[in-house]
Parts: sequence; C-alpha cells; structure tokens
Amino acid sequence: MLLAKYPRRSYTHAKTPIEKLTHLTELLNGPSIFVKRDDLLGLAGGGNKTRKLEFLIADAIHKGADTIVTCGALQSNHCRLTLAAAIKEGLKCQLVLEEGVATPYNPDANGNNLPFKLLGAESIKVVPYGSDIIADMHTLGEELVMAGRKPYLIPLGGSNELGSAGYVACAQEILQQTFETGLVIDDVVVASGSGGTQAGLIVGFNASSAPIKVHGINVSRPNEAQIPLITDLVQQTAGYLNLADFHFADRVHCYDSYVGEGYTIPTQGMIEAVQMVARTEGILLDSVYTGKVMAGLIDLIRKGAFKKEDNVLFIHTGGSPSLYANPTLFNEDFFAL
Ligand SMILES: Cc1ncc(COP(=O)(O)O)c(C=O)c1O
Repeated sequence: MLLAKYPRRSYTHAKTPIEKLTHLTELLNGPSIFVKRDDLLGLAGGGNKTRKLEFLIADAIHKGADTIVTCGALQSNHCRLTLAAAIKEGLKCQLVLEEGVATPYNPDANGNNLPFKLLGAESIKVVPYGSDIIADMHTLGEELVMAGRKPYLIPLGGSNELGSAGYVACAQEILQQTFETGLVIDDVVVASGSGGTQAGLIVGFNASSAPIKVHGINVSRPNEAQIPLITDLVQQTAGYLNLADFHFADRVHCYDSYVGEGYTIPTQGMIEAVQMVARTEGILLDSVYTGKVMAGLIDLIRKGAFKKEDNVLFIHTGGSPSLYANPTLFNEDFFAL
C-alpha cells in the first residue's frame, strides 16, 4: 500500500507521542497501558478528525470546492476542526448542528460557540434533536450549487474511505514508532462512533500483517448496528486503497456495554474514568468519547480481559474542549486518590 500517492494536506508536523501511563497501570494492576496522544494533533483543539481532514480537505481542494459543508452535534469536535481546516485553506465553511437529547441550543453555552465565532463559520443552521441532519446537509449543498458555489460535503464524523485513510496512516505511524522503541503492542482500544477511526486502524494494521487486535468501544450504537457499520467502512477503505483482496470481517471487535443510555448521555463509569486519568496521569479526556472508552478499558482490565504481560494502547482521540460545556458533570467524585 502506497499511502503517499493519495492527495493529502498536512495539519500536524510531528508524530503524536506514545506515552506509558505508569500510575494508571499500577493502579489497575493489569496490562501495561500506553496512550497515543492524538489529542495533540493540529488545528483548533485537535483530535482524530485532524487526521481524517488531511485526506478529506485535500480531496475538496482537488475537486475545486470553495465551501466545505458538514454536520454534527452542538459540541461536535468534527465540526470545529472541519471549520478550522477550511479556514486554514482559505475556504468557506457552513455547518448543520443538531441539538442534544437533553441539551437544546444555547448561544451563550461554553464549548464550541466561541471557536465557531472566532474561526468564522459562514453559516450555522441548528436543527432539533432527532432531525435528519444528513438530509439537511444535502439540502444546504443543493442551495449552494443553485447559488453558483462549489460545495464539498463531508459526511458525519468525516467517516468515509477518505477519512478512514487518516487512521490507516495513524496505524503506520504507530508501527513505525513501536519499531523505533521496540515496544510490542498487543491490543489497541479506541472509540467507535461514526467508525472511521476504528476502521482505518483495522485496515492499517492488517495491511502490514501486524497482529494487533483493535477493540472498538461503542459510544452511540448497539453492536447489531455498529459491527456492520465498521465492517462496511473497512471494506470501502480497503477498496479505496486497492487492498480489496484482504478479508477483515473477523477483525471487527466492538463493545456496546459502555454507551449507557445513549450518545452524549453521561455514565458513572465515564465520570470515574475521566477523574481517574486526570488525577493519576494529568491528562484530560472528554465525556462523550474518550471518557466512555476509558471506562470500557478499565472495566475490561478489572474483568481480566488482558494478560498482565500485554501492552495495551489507548488512542486518545481528543475532545477535551467539550468538557467546558458541562463542567457540573464532574461535581461528584467517583474516584479519589
Ligand atoms: C473526540 C472524539 N473521539 C472519538 C470520536 C469517534 O471517532 P469515529 O467517529 O471515527 O468513530 C469522535 C467523533 O466525533 C470524537 O470527536
């Protein structure tokens, strides 16, 4: 696989570090836990979307787009980072944002509102919870075409084969880093939302015949919906990268016990996990994605899912800017040192 031949922009200028979480490892008394600091990726409050956007925005530029259109939740990291990437490239950006199940739009809320304003989104359309935001995004795209503009639509979470290619590149980066240090990773634990991150890692490791198991912790859907979603995306990504002969279906591992009542709805495990990582390692997670993923990892370790000699790599996909939108979530202590 020759990733270099696919159009790509560059938004981060070094590999993100892999660090050992020494205190957390000791506390949980299980496998050695490492973190891939993809929360340190470039753009405005970087995270996994930064890697996806390198390929997506390159395609938009290649196709002569003048306006990037995308959609997501009110505190969407994807929307904030897409806007930042568009501005960096001199493009306009229009967003469709869906209100949360328990969080109606509040223009004075903390979190994304300030960066949206500072970065200068050309328009933001807020739609009620339960709306078909993908249809709304397509309507917006059609209106822009009618107005003589050249929109480029980026799917929810940037998860298509182009976005996933960003995480194929991340898998290659991890293999290169672990080769340099001699660290043998057995398992990777990552968020499984719109799926591009997990799918890209599965394709990337398997394309290099690296026997690393990718555990996707679901943040929104049950396995009956998530496993087919990831499997399709794996196939599309492999096809895009001309790896069509590879068979990845049995490599898709998802866990749906940590979603709680639904997407963005806090769980006690998430609160404990965010507090535990902050107080042992000085690292901020977020409440929607990485907090639930870490809750899953902690629970799997407590249940003995890994051997003591295993090396487990947690992918920190970013998202901490959204912590500030709901600080009272963490009023109660579920973890104290
Ligand atoms: C911080 C963060 N982590 C993880 C995810 C999930 O990644 P994916 O949608 O590729 O499954 C997202 C998606 O929005 C995110 O913003």
